[in-house]
Amino acid sequence: MIAHKASDITVTVVDLNAARIAAWNSDTLPIYEPGLDEVVRSARGRNLFFSTDVKGAIAAADIVFVSVNTPTKTYGVGAGRAADLRYIESVARTIAEVATTPKIIVEKSTIPVRTATTIQEILAANGKAVKCQVLSNPEFLAEGTAVADLMNPDRVLIGGERTPEGEAAIATLVSVYARWVAPERIITTNLWSSELSKLVANAFLAQRISSINAISALCEATGADVDEVANAIGKDSRIGAKFLKASVGFGGSCFQKDVLNLSYLCEHFGLPEVATYWESVVKMNDWQKHRFAGNIVKTLFNTVADKRIAVLGFAFKKDTNDTRESAAIDVVRDLLVEHANVVVYDPKVPAAEILHDVSGKGVTPNPRLSVASSAIEACAGAHAIAIVTEWDEFKTLDYAKIFAGMQKPAFIFDGRNITNLAKLREIGFRAFGIGK
Ligand code: UGA
Repeated sequence: MIAHKASDITVTVVDLNAARIAAWNSDTLPIYEPGLDEVVRSARGRNLFFSTDVKGAIAAADIVFVSVNTPTKTYGVGAGRAADLRYIESVARTIAEVATTPKIIVEKSTIPVRTATTIQEILAANGKAVKCQVLSNPEFLAEGTAVADLMNPDRVLIGGERTPEGEAAIATLVSVYARWVAPERIITTNLWSSELSKLVANAFLAQRISSINAISALCEATGADVDEVANAIGKDSRIGAKFLKASVGFGGSCFQKDVLNLSYLCEHFGLPEVATYWESVVKMNDWQKHRFAGNIVKTLFNTVADKRIAVLGFAFKKDTNDTRESAAIDVVRDLLVEHANVVVYDPKVPAAEILHDVSGKGVTPNPRLSVASSAIEACAGAHAIAIVTEWDEFKTLDYAKIFAGMQKPAFIFDGRNITNLAKLREIGFRAFGIGK
């Protein structure tokens, strides 16, 4: 977006992974995101370059955005909750090794609060007396709407040291965003506030979904309708209407990871009650995913053994091919444990990815699991349909035709509340939503 908006700024994207860089230089970009092709095409070769020359690009740069991944640690202290900062540290060491001119180093990755200290210490201990300023500039874009979010962000957050050198670095980065973002949307803070705000924003968003999902269960038990409840409370401007869509559970690479990391940080700073509070947001999400699969089993007369279940959607939300932490993974696994024959269809996720996500890398996929190339094919002969991702095409399927080709009674479980349950019932389906 910087390259697209500011033709006088040269942007070089570097990665050690040559295949990935080759993909960025090709006609088929490595990620699917609406509008991304146009943005890349507008600037690539002009002032946007993709390269594997990591050191050369760092040496030449005035500003270095550190955008490496910070996955959840899988080993040792904090396993399963803390962020793994080894890639951040390795970037800091590379910068220290090759930098010969002053640089502004921008933390773009999502990191725990106080990570900037680590980067500063590594630079100070290894650098050749080159002055570097570390800024925090967390990314708030969501997948599926990345281009629109970058084009028109709610806010850009920049944190830095409140010293003359820090303020100068902040001003430089502000001048980059000011090319297309209104000044009142660019917020500057101290380093720690900026680092912490990223985790807290995701934790608050995740908390809203877990809250409304908890209420979805109460709605089902009482005859209330979760969409009506969400609409009624969302009209209170203090609560607001967004992020109150009850669902089979949130997924994606961010919410679970960041909430667990926040919880781990709380524990680290001696606040176990606060840690438990945030962890419960993730526990509620796990519960909601298992509740959805459990409801399918219960409703199909307490057995899905050898029954064909069509799972529509596998990505963690629509308009992305990303499946990380997708609710679909847990739903499919739960159904396989009950010996269902599961047929998955997703418009953007390749079959190999689906099989690998459910069964594990290098593991022979469960023979009960298969992938269809259309929703119609997945549903043919099925006992039940489970909608797990809210792809637009699932709203307009010819459900009467699908119903005709299914086993009877034909069940549909809409984990995203995107269909008209009343119409489906008119067709003959036994139809269930979330919180309905
Ligand atoms: C999230 C945040 O929304 C971004 O602001 C943040 O920058 C990003 O994480 C990140 O840390 O990089 P993302 O994970 O791409 O973005 O997607 P979301 O749109 O937030 O959706 C997350 C999950 O929550 C999806 O599974 C979605 O279907 C679910 N969701 C969302 C609901 O179930 N109900 C809602 O009302 C909203």
